[in-house]
Amino acid sequence: MSWPALLTRLFRPSSGSAPPGLDPRCDRVLIDVNIHAAQLLGHAVALRDHGTVTHNMRVAWMSSRLGEALGLDRTAMQALMKGAFLHDVGKIGIPDAILLKPGPLSVEERLVMNRHPELGAELIQDIAWFSDARPIVLHHHERYDGTGYQQALRGEAIPLTARLFAVVDVFDALISDRPYKAALSCDLAVAFMAPKAGSHFDPAVLEVFLPLAPKLHDAMGDQEVETLKPLLESQRRRYFGI
Ligand SMILES: [Fe+2]
Repeated sequence: MSWPALLTRLFRPSSGSAPPGLDPRCDRVLIDVNIHAAQLLGHAVALRDHGTVTHNMRVAWMSSRLGEALGLDRTAMQALMKGAFLHDVGKIGIPDAILLKPGPLSVEERLVMNRHPELGAELIQDIAWFSDARPIVLHHHERYDGTGYQQALRGEAIPLTARLFAVVDVFDALISDRPYKAALSCDLAVAFMAPKAGSHFDPAVLEVFLPLAPKLHDAMGDQEVETLKPLLESQRRRYFGI
């Protein structure tokens, strides 16, 4: 059985309310299973990619805080948090020799790596509960000026959740240690991103994010699992009720 078919069988959609006569607690259990499934899939890929789940936890939490600052409704907030967990799930289909290569990628290798949004979208396409996460999975590497991938979308043709997530994903990459670079301070990351309003990033989203960034950075403290867990659990309770 293929991965998508297996996942479809495992994670059936939840309607958001229990059918008449069915204990509403059953529905809460389904939501609980589904949100943990999203986290599990995202974490599994993140562990293979970065050797840690903290990137996924940070981007999920920071996305939710930015979504709040932009006034997103509950439905969009749920889509955002699911998409944040699942954004790089397609990297499961990237060969180790490319995904884990310590040096720079060749042009051919980069083309393979850049297929991960498409692979991720394909992986989750038949899972109804993940359908609202698909725009982030497929479009998180688009750029506002149309020079990104997967479909070189431009401006507001890029779904809002993906435009928002792209800002947070890049910020987190900048403030994180990677094998090929040291973490930047929050101030340096903000200074790096600010000139990219309208080219890489949606200027309206960046305008809200940049003043918020130092508060988010401070709140994440040492950025480790035990610090991030309660932050994320609080947002999960707020937007998923569990
Ligand atoms: Fe990605």
